Amino acid sequence: MYDLTKPLSIQWELNNLCNLMCPQCGRNVIKDGKLQWKYDDLNTVDTSLITFRAAYKNIRHPVSHIRFIGNLSEPVLSKDFLPICEFLKAETDTAFQVSTHGSVRTSDYWKRLGKIFNGNPKNIIFFSIDGVGNESLQNYRIGANFDKIMKNAKAFIEGGGKAIWRMIIFKHNQHQIEEARALAESLGFWEFISVQTNRRHHMNEVYEYRGKKRILENQDISSEWNDEVDKNRTSSEILDIQCKYKETNSFYVDYLKRVWVCCYIPNKAQFGRQHEWYAKYNDDMTNSLVYKTFDQIMENEFYDTIQESWNDSDTCLSDCKKFCSQSTGITRQAKWTSPTQQEMWT
Ligand SMILES: C[S@@+](CC[C@H](N)C(=O)[O-])C[C@H]1O[C@@H](n2cnc3c(N)ncnc32)[C@H](O)[C@@H]1O
Ligand code: SF4
Ligand code: SF4
Repeated sequence: MYDLTKPLSIQWELNNLCNLMCPQCGRNVIKDGKLQWKYDDLNTVDTSLITFRAAYKNIRHPVSHIRFIGNLSEPVLSKDFLPICEFLKAETDTAFQVSTHGSVRTSDYWKRLGKIFNGNPKNIIFFSIDGVGNESLQNYRIGANFDKIMKNAKAFIEGGGKAIWRMIIFKHNQHQIEEARALAESLGFWEFISVQTNRRHHMNEVYEYRGKKRILENQDISSEWNDEVDKNRTSSEILDIQCKYKETNSFYVDYLKRVWVCCYIPNKAQFGRQHEWYAKYNDDMTNSLVYKTFDQIMENEFYDTIQESWNDSDTCLSDCKKFCSQSTGITRQAKWTSPTQQEMWT
């Protein structure tokens, strides 16, 4: 599956913890008109430094960088997040990158984090800030505190960390892009990116959360983008699949330390009902870096089968068709200030 003569890279979901309620996040769902958690067992699992070290050791191949992100996770909520980054800095050649909502912990903590991030230009934090001011921001980042995020980001940058402001464009913030870009620049962010989302679920639909009626509206400044997303949503054909993760020698570690090809396919019960080969892997809890080395996990037939499935419409997972079919899969969605910086990070 992977080219082991080259370094690997990893997307690592450190926990299933988060204190926000973003309506399109994989943690949440709108059911019976109410925004709620999708799974009962959220906010239960963390990764300690001891477990992280053991799992990292079990990879036994060079790792160029780890991105702490994940479908269910706010990485900075991990109890040992700071010592985990310290360990990577002191004992490995692996760079570390993070996606965070930034609305947790104190500015002292973020300053310390900035110092740890300093020293390797590849260490970087993406702050997910989808609006300027609380009122705008909380249309999507429900529960976030704009002023706290600004203080934290500032402290991180003062500590010597490199930060990117990543803003997803919705109707509520589409008029604030230039304001956010200017603010990012004045605070010393290294880069500002505006991102068009290809998610459409729960958009333009009234829902309730904690007794308040809300609505998340789609942007209408780029009809071109909306047309492209609509075209993609109506197609379920396999058209020349190029696995994004295989191509970049990357894999995914979920909050249980289980190994997957990418962020789109972990722990999906519906795929298990459709495909026996998927169920067999998903039901086996031992394909985890706690129990096995990376090479032992790669011996599982799952990795041959998934590669074969990309040429067979019946066995192919719907998410592989959706995200990685070349003619329909949408790949360009972020606008960076500097193309040179984009090349370094995407
Ligand atoms: C589940 S979050 C985990 C990391 C962290 N909690 C955060 O929000 O940055 C993973 C990534 O999904 C992004 N994301 C969340 N909602 C999105 C949406 N509607 N469209 C595109 N990306 C989204 C986040 O900004 C983040 O970069
Ligand atoms: S902050 Fe991140 S993990 Fe938390 S709900 Fe929002 S998108 Fe999901
Ligand atoms: S969705 Fe399928 S093809 Fe795309 S990155 Fe994941 S495993 Fe690879």
